[in-house]
Amino acid sequence: MVVAEFVTRRSRDRNAIPVAGRCYGWRVTLPTFDTPRLCLRPFTLADADAVTAAAGVREVAATTLYVPHPYPPGAAAEWIATHADAFAQRSELTLAVVDRASGALRGAINLVLTPMFDRGEIGYWMAREGWGQGFATEAATAIVGFGFTALGLVRIVGHCMAHNPGSARVLEKVGMQREGLLRQHVKRDGRHIDVLAYGLLRAEWRGPAPTVRA
Ligand SMILES: CC(C)(COP(=O)(O)OP(=O)(O)OC[C@H]1O[C@@H](n2cnc3c(N)ncnc32)[C@H](O)[C@@H]1OP(=O)(O)O)[C@@H](O)C(=O)NCCC(=O)NCCS
Repeated sequence: MVVAEFVTRRSRDRNAIPVAGRCYGWRVTLPTFDTPRLCLRPFTLADADAVTAAAGVREVAATTLYVPHPYPPGAAAEWIATHADAFAQRSELTLAVVDRASGALRGAINLVLTPMFDRGEIGYWMAREGWGQGFATEAATAIVGFGFTALGLVRIVGHCMAHNPGSARVLEKVGMQREGLLRQHVKRDGRHIDVLAYGLLRAEWRGPAPTVRA
């Protein structure tokens, strides 16, 4: 398992994972937690081929901002190798979404963190063959719960291209409110694209919090 180790301060909330630089005497790993059908766990280099196969599908990449297409050889391993440092520095938490029954990689999910504002931004992609089975909603619900409880976030936002109603629906099912339309906010494949902005406050969140594996 990929492990980020740094020294942290003991918190009153045993589930809390304090921010690097403020903490002493505590070892931190990327978290693993289960949902009814899925396990959200750190990626390992053994996942690289499955990432390349799933993220390499044009339909998967097309509505993301940063998944390249075609997916370059070696890019998956390079990406996975960044996850531990990114979490240790509190800039990003990225987890594999794995089918608990089969062990198959269903997708990837992340929270990009802005600790100064106690804010996170959710992102995800799911392997094409699993679309429409509720996997993105299940994984997003879990990582949002983790963000509000273990990471101490007060606001989690999500953005999706305006022509991606499936992703907008996932954000709504997680409980997010649509907060706006950002016109020509991003550029993908040479086109300027409108983006829907969603947000959820911890005060509005109705749980549940995922149980993190020891
Ligand atoms: C967006 C994505 C993650 C959704 O994954 P998923 O596992 O199929 O999502 P879920 O099954 O949890 O939920 C999808 C919801 O969107 C709905 N949906 C899907 N396509 C839709 C469409 N064209 N119009 C309206 N609703 C749509 C589904 O009906 C479902 O809602 P419901 O449960 O109320 O019926 C997946 O399509 C994907 O990986 N796309 C490519 C990458 C991407 O766009 N990532 C998000 C970037 S913001």
